[in-house]
Amino acid sequence: MANALFRTKSIDRLMADSGASGDSGLKRTLGAWSLIGLGIGAIIGAGLFVRTAAAIAERAGPSVTLAFIVAGIGCAFAGLCYAEFASMIPIAGSAYTYSYTTMGEFVAWIIGWDLVLEYAVGAATVAIAWSQYLNNLLRILGISEVPYAWSHSAMEVSTTGIHGIANLPAVLILGLLSMVLMRGTQESALLNGIIVITKVAIVMIVIAVGWGFMNSANHTPYIPAATTYTTAQGVTHAYGGIMGILGAAGVVFFAYIGFDAVSTAAQEAKNPGRDMPIGILGSLVICTILYILFAHVLSGVATVEDFRTAGKEASVAFAIQKYMTGYGWLANFVTVAILAGFSSVILVMLLGQSRVFYSMSRDGLVPKVFSDTHPKFRTPWKSNMLFFVFTSLFAAFLPDSVVGEMTSIGTLFAFMLVCAGVWILRVRRPDLVRTFKVPMVPVVAVLGIVVCGAMIYGLGWTNWLRLGVWLLIGMFIYFGYSKSHSKLNTEAS
Ligand code: ALA
Repeated sequence: MANALFRTKSIDRLMADSGASGDSGLKRTLGAWSLIGLGIGAIIGAGLFVRTAAAIAERAGPSVTLAFIVAGIGCAFAGLCYAEFASMIPIAGSAYTYSYTTMGEFVAWIIGWDLVLEYAVGAATVAIAWSQYLNNLLRILGISEVPYAWSHSAMEVSTTGIHGIANLPAVLILGLLSMVLMRGTQESALLNGIIVITKVAIVMIVIAVGWGFMNSANHTPYIPAATTYTTAQGVTHAYGGIMGILGAAGVVFFAYIGFDAVSTAAQEAKNPGRDMPIGILGSLVICTILYILFAHVLSGVATVEDFRTAGKEASVAFAIQKYMTGYGWLANFVTVAILAGFSSVILVMLLGQSRVFYSMSRDGLVPKVFSDTHPKFRTPWKSNMLFFVFTSLFAAFLPDSVVGEMTSIGTLFAFMLVCAGVWILRVRRPDLVRTFKVPMVPVVAVLGIVVCGAMIYGLGWTNWLRLGVWLLIGMFIYFGYSKSHSKLNTEAS
């Protein structure tokens, strides 16, 4: 039995299955800058425009900037490891594929199962953020908003005491984008380019304009004294001090998710050995700098109390509207641009989800329905439909704090396994050609594990419990279904 758990898919087999050996059929058109653009397109989203304010309000106050530094460092270590894998196994893969060749089927299953938290639950989080900004847009346009009850989960109560029922706008955007995916999307480089430029532009404009509206009182003390904060759902966790910063790092880590999307484009990179690390680390560095400055401005313009009350939702637009007199147009522009920006992030995540389950289904670990393609559109449309239902349940019935933190903790756990994987493969397969090598292995791999582990620690026991339950469900499915249906198993017998 132990052998079965650790059976690995050989790299040669992997390349053959994916058609990546020799001529992959995909054109190698992406240079370093295109890869950086791809990364930024997938990265900047709800993490910055919604979760940052939540981290300020519930975890760290102005020291959220330090949290962005911690999260950025964790991502840099993990990003280096992703870059080595991507240069060594240059197929349209993900952490799931990498781990199948290195740590065996069971760990691969765990990562694949865990990536559902990153991609599907992540998409639900961004959809909830989309719903907040949609209501802001309706307000700006003077059209009546979607009532509180129908734009919030049952776990939320408004400041005036109205209870939520279900978040319908979030379901709407997930439905629309799932339909786009079922129909098949040509990832348009031009459209992605426009969205990336718009997103970076609004971040830079808010930083530049907001700098003059900062109030030093809001930044004092920069690291609030350690105390606790109780959420609307009655969960108490650390606020302020070191634990506040670590918890906030776990929350805003969400804002960095997506840079691993660059690694899935390895087959299309002109020179993967050089361009993949530049693409992954370049997009990370640019986003880290923007994030730190943005968080400094946001926490300087509005107060912690704002983000706990009226400015809890559509927080960036709120801060501009309330404090940056004369810049109403900026709040409007930000609202519209963010709605487009969020949509592109949701699309990338839903696409990533269907790709991972497509590979898992081809390997026999999940049912065939996830790799059935539409006869005309050649998309895994049934998979798209099932994930629409799944993501909608999360988006409709849970608050953004719960799904956002679940996404963070799941992804952090996957990153730890990727860091371990690089180290394991160096020992087991030193012969493989690596066009990019992580410097100082195992130090960097261990540091990646430690920093990501620290953020998991900071997220607190409710999140550990959720991750534990999620992994337990995954184990039932693995032992009840996947292990015996695995292609490697059926071929062996
Ligand atoms: N990093 C992406 C976002 O913040 C997932 O929306």
